[in-house]
Amino acid sequence: MSVHVQSVRMTTSRIREKAMQGEHLTMLTAYDYTLARLVDEAGIDMLLVGDSASNVVCGNQYTIPITLDEMIFLSRGVVRAAGHSLVVVDMPFGSYQISEEDAVRNAVKVMKESGCDALKLEGGEDILPVIQHLIRSGIPVCGHLGLTPQSVNQFGGYGLRAKEEAEAEKLLHDAELLAKAGCFCLVLEKIPASLARRVTEITLPLGCPTIGIGAGNGTTGQVLVLHDMLGMNTGFKPKFLRHFAHLAGDIKQAVTCYANAVNDGSFPNENESY
Ligand code: KIV
Repeated sequence: MSVHVQSVRMTTSRIREKAMQGEHLTMLTAYDYTLARLVDEAGIDMLLVGDSASNVVCGNQYTIPITLDEMIFLSRGVVRAAGHSLVVVDMPFGSYQISEEDAVRNAVKVMKESGCDALKLEGGEDILPVIQHLIRSGIPVCGHLGLTPQSVNQFGGYGLRAKEEAEAEKLLHDAELLAKAGCFCLVLEKIPASLARRVTEITLPLGCPTIGIGAGNGTTGQVLVLHDMLGMNTGFKPKFLRHFAHLAGDIKQAVTCYANAVNDGSFPNENESY
C-alpha cells in the first residue's frame, strides 16, 4: 500500500489552495500524542482535537461535560505530534456562548496554552459576532453546521438534520454567512448528501471548503472520529461510518495473549530479561 506523505506543514492558506485546486481534504480526530503522530505521519491534512474526546476519552454520553482545560490538556499532546497536519481544536460547550468577550478570552487561552493552529465552533448566525471577532483577532475558525452535538438536548438526539426544507434553507443561509465571515473551512455533520453538495457549491468559491461527516461525497473533504474508523468502538456503527481497521478485536487478542503468557510464566523469557 502506498502512503502519500507530505512533509510541508499545512496552514489554513494551504488548506484553501488545495481545495481550490480541486483536491480533497482529509481530517481525523486525535486526542493524544502517540496516535496523533501516526495520523500526522500518514499525511492527513488536519488533526481535530474534537470535543468528542468527552465520549471517546472520558466515557461521557455527551460532548457537553468536557471543559476548556481538559481540551487544552489533550491538545498539547496533539500539537507536539503534528509535524505536517494542521491542528484544529474544538471550543467546548459553554466556552463561547456566554458573551463575545468571554468567548474571545477563552479562544485566546486555547491558542496560547495549546499552541494549536485553529479553532472550531458549532453554530451559524447566532454565533456569527463571536466568529467575526475571532477572525478579526487573527484566529482561524472552522465552522460546524448540521448535527452539532453540543445542541443534542435541543435536537432530542443524534438523528439526521436538515431533512425539512426550512432547516435546509437556514443551514444554507448560515453556511454562506460563515464563509463570508472568513471561516477557512466548514464541517457539515449528518445532513443529506444533496444539501451538503449545495452548501459546498456556495461556500467553496468564497474560500471556505466543506468537510463532511455523514454528509455524502459532495463535500471538499471528509472527517471521521479516529477510534470509530479504526474499529475500536464496535458498539457504534452508524450508516456513514466505515471501519478501515478492526482494532477492537486485535487489541483484545493481544491483551489476552499477554495475560496468558504472564499466567503460564512464558513472559518474560530469558531474552526479555536483564
Ligand atoms: O468532536 C468531533 O469529533 C467533531 C467531529 C465529529 C467533526 O466535531
